[in-house]
Amino acid sequence: KIVPVILAGGTGTRLWPLSRNSLPKQFLALVSDNTLYQDTLLRVPPGDDFLPPIVVTNTDFRFFARRQASEVGIEAVVVLEPARRDSAPALLAAAAVAQQIHGADCLVLALAADHVVKDVAAFQAAVQAAARVAASGRIVTFGIAPDGPRTAYGYIRPGAALAEGGHTVDAFVEKPDRGTAAGYVADGYLWNSGNFLFPAALMISEAERFEPELTGAALGAVARAGTDLGFLRLDPESFAAAPAKSIDFAVLEHTKLAAVVAGDFGWSDIGAWDAVREIGAPDADGNVTAGPVTLRDSHDSYVRSDGPLVTGIGLAGISVVATEDAVLVMPSDRAQEVKQLVASLKAAR
Ligand code: GDD
Ligand code: MG
Repeated sequence: KIVPVILAGGTGTRLWPLSRNSLPKQFLALVSDNTLYQDTLLRVPPGDDFLPPIVVTNTDFRFFARRQASEVGIEAVVVLEPARRDSAPALLAAAAVAQQIHGADCLVLALAADHVVKDVAAFQAAVQAAARVAASGRIVTFGIAPDGPRTAYGYIRPGAALAEGGHTVDAFVEKPDRGTAAGYVADGYLWNSGNFLFPAALMISEAERFEPELTGAALGAVARAGTDLGFLRLDPESFAAAPAKSIDFAVLEHTKLAAVVAGDFGWSDIGAWDAVREIGAPDADGNVTAGPVTLRDSHDSYVRSDGPLVTGIGLAGISVVATEDAVLVMPSDRAQEVKQLVASLKAAR
């Protein structure tokens, strides 16, 4: 059986004003009645294939993590990070916790908490295919066929076919610039989905080779962890010594033991509002609306309200997101700039 590890400590800045520091996007119901985190848990239900999940998140989100899991009938082991150090320390700490609970040889499926997967059966089939490859001593990535030169993703160049299925990874490049990404798309690279399947011991030993200090800090934080109200609290002093780094930069760009299996399961990283719009069902005019919204003579726009009635006339390619206390209005193709907008709001405070 596979141990699911859910990475649920990101901040989701580009989905402001809905996603906030105090309630980031993985804990919001953006595209279904469940939150993204709940849908992630339901994709890997404890049973024949999966062991109970381990969730790693920032201590600020501990009650969301536990309550939202039990709302969908899943009891998760919730591991708390005392500081933000990006995904590598979190993932390595979770791998070590998985070993403590399920033995040194367990297989871990590390999942982002904030993705959309439309075809759950195809996802689970890809996981089983990946498990056969991982068991042969590989860190398996799920490769997504790209639809353009996006710069928010990691790029994978598949190599030779493996006997167990999938392919070796000839190159892994995290977040290339636009020109480089365009070349990669033309050359048949795949996007990295940001989910990984690996033997826990292999991920830890690879991380020790490339990032000894970071790995030592993460493992030390597990060795000296305490329990508190049923949460597993990583040791603050040890964890603080870990540099902030994502697992992509820390391990995937360097390891020779990566493999890739195709991930054709309706995947979307709903990183920004343009991606949320693409997932919604557009009406005859190409508008996607959510909440109390009335539009006239408008097309190809995204209008969402989680508060007041929002009305529009003559909108074309515009996004509007309204909450009780903040409203965002922008051309839909500038959705990536919300990150800078939020940074300037913070600086002004
Ligand atoms: N626990 C914890 N702690 N989780 C974290 C932290 C942290 O400090 N930072 C990020 N995460 C979680 C996020 O919540 C998300 O579920 C996952 O780790 C990935 O982090 P992101 O910050 O969303 O990464 P990204 O989207 O920029 O890039 C990754 O995903 C892309 C696909 O969506 C990379 O793996 C790329 O290569 C990949 O293409
Ligand atoms: Mg992401």
